Amino acid sequence: MSGNTSQLQVDGKTVDMAIKSGSVGPSVIDIAKLYAQTGMFTYDPGFTSTASCESQITYIDGDAGILLYRGYPIEQLAEHGDFLETCYLLLEGELPTAAQKADFDYRVTRHTMVHEQMARFFHGFRRDAHPMAIMVASIGALSAFYHDSTDISDPHQRMIASMRMIAKVPTLAAMAYKYTVGQPFVYPLNSLDYTSNFLRMCFAVPAEEYKVNPVLSRALDRIFILHADHEQNASTSTVRLAGSSGANPFACIAAGTACLWGPAHGGANEAALKMLEEIGSVDNIPKYIAKAKDKNDPFRLMGFGHRVYKNYDPRAKIMQKTTHEVLNELGIKDDPLLDVAVELERIALSDEYFIEKKLYPNIDFYSGITLKAMGFPTSMFTVLFTLARTVGWIAQWKEMIEDPSQRIGRPRQLYTGAPQRDYTPIGRR
Ligand code: SDX
Repeated sequence: MSGNTSQLQVDGKTVDMAIKSGSVGPSVIDIAKLYAQTGMFTYDPGFTSTASCESQITYIDGDAGILLYRGYPIEQLAEHGDFLETCYLLLEGELPTAAQKADFDYRVTRHTMVHEQMARFFHGFRRDAHPMAIMVASIGALSAFYHDSTDISDPHQRMIASMRMIAKVPTLAAMAYKYTVGQPFVYPLNSLDYTSNFLRMCFAVPAEEYKVNPVLSRALDRIFILHADHEQNASTSTVRLAGSSGANPFACIAAGTACLWGPAHGGANEAALKMLEEIGSVDNIPKYIAKAKDKNDPFRLMGFGHRVYKNYDPRAKIMQKTTHEVLNELGIKDDPLLDVAVELERIALSDEYFIEKKLYPNIDFYSGITLKAMGFPTSMFTVLFTLARTVGWIAQWKEMIEDPSQRIGRPRQLYTGAPQRDYTPIGRR
C-alpha cells in the first residue's frame, strides 16, 4: 500500500484501489471496480473483513471495548440520559436541547396506541405462540394499517413511520406478552414515561391499580439504551438490505426482527438463561466448559464471544451492575442463576481456551438474569431486545435511504455447482 491507494497484482495485471479513511477506526480499500477490472469477486463469507457501508451512527472498537453512539460513550449515555434521549441522538445525530427532548417525548407518547383492529390480528395466534413469532408478524402488519407512512421517498412519511415504530413496538411487545399469558391488553397511559408505560402495559391487570417501581423502570430504560444500536450487526445489515430494495420501513424492521431472533444474535439472551438453568449449579460448570471447548460438541457458552469485541463488551459491564441493582431492589439475596453466571464467568476468563479465542461475556450474558428477576418470561427476552433495537434499525435505515449513493444491495458468489449440462428425459435417468 502506498499513500492512499493500494495495489493488487492479479493475472499479471496491477489494479489500483483507493484507500478511504474514516474519522476513527480502520480504513477501507474501495474494491467497487475490482470485478470490472479483474473479472474476479472478493470472497468473505460472514463479512469478517468487509465494510458494507459508510455510517456516522455507531462506532465500536472491539479491542479497546469501546462503543460510541454518535461519538458519545455508551457508559455516559447509560449513566446520564434516558432511552428516548438516545433515540433522538441516534436519529438526529445530536443530543436534544430540553425543548427538543420535551417535543420528542410528547410526539412519541402520542403514537403509542395501535389501530384497534390489531387486537383482532393478535387473536389469530395460538396462546402458546412464541412472542417473537408474534412480533415478526405484527411489526410487518403495521404496514397494513399505516399506509399513510409507507412512501419512503417522502421525508415526512419517513419521520412519521419512524415515530410510529419507536412508539408502537413497546405496545405490540406488551400485547404479545399479555396474549401469551391470557390476560387482557392494557392500553398505554400518556402520563407515564416511555419505559414505565411499557412496564405497566406488561404487568398491570384491570383488577387492581399498578404502581411502577421507579428503580426497575430506570434499570430497564438503561437496558434499552445498551441495546439501541450496534453498527452493522446481522439484523441491522438485514434491515439495510431489505431497505435497499425500497421496501416500506415496517417490512424492513420486521425483517430485522426475524434475524435478531436467531440464538447466535439477539436470541442469545434467551439461550444464555436456558443454559444457566441447564447448568443448574456451580458444580456442573466444569462439564459445560469442557463441552464448549470440545470441537465435536456443538454446545457453545451462550452469552460469550463476539464478532467484534475481542475484549470485554462494554455493555456487559453496565449490564452486570444493573443486574445487582435490580436483584437488590427486589430483595433477591442469593439467586442461584447469578451464582452460576458469576462462577462461570470467573472460570471461563481464566481458561486458556477462552483467553486464546478472546471470548468474553457479551451483553446477553447477564441480561436474562435481570429480565427474569423483573418478571419477564424467558420467551420475552428477545422481544425486549427488539423493542430497544428498533430505533437503531430505523436510524440505520434512514441513513441508508438518505444516502444519495445508495443502490440495491446485491452480493455475488463463488459458484461451485454443476457446469452447464443437458436435460435427460426421465426414462433415460
Ligand atoms: C449479539 O454483531 C453484533 O454486534 C451482535 C450484538 C448486537 O448488539 O447486535 O452484539 C448482539 O448478537 C451478541 C452475541 C450473542 N451471541 C452469543 O452469545 C452466542 C454465542 N456466541 C457465538 O456463537 C459467537 O461467539 C458469535 C456468534 C457471537 C460470534 O461468532 P464469530 O465471530 O463468527 O466467531 P466464531 O464462531 O468464528 O468463533 C471463533 C472461535 C471458534 O473456534 P475455532 O473454530 O476458531 O476453533 O471461537 C469459538 C468458535 O468455536 N467460539 C466459542 C464461542 N464463541 C465462539 N466457543 C465456545 N463458546 C462460545 N460462545
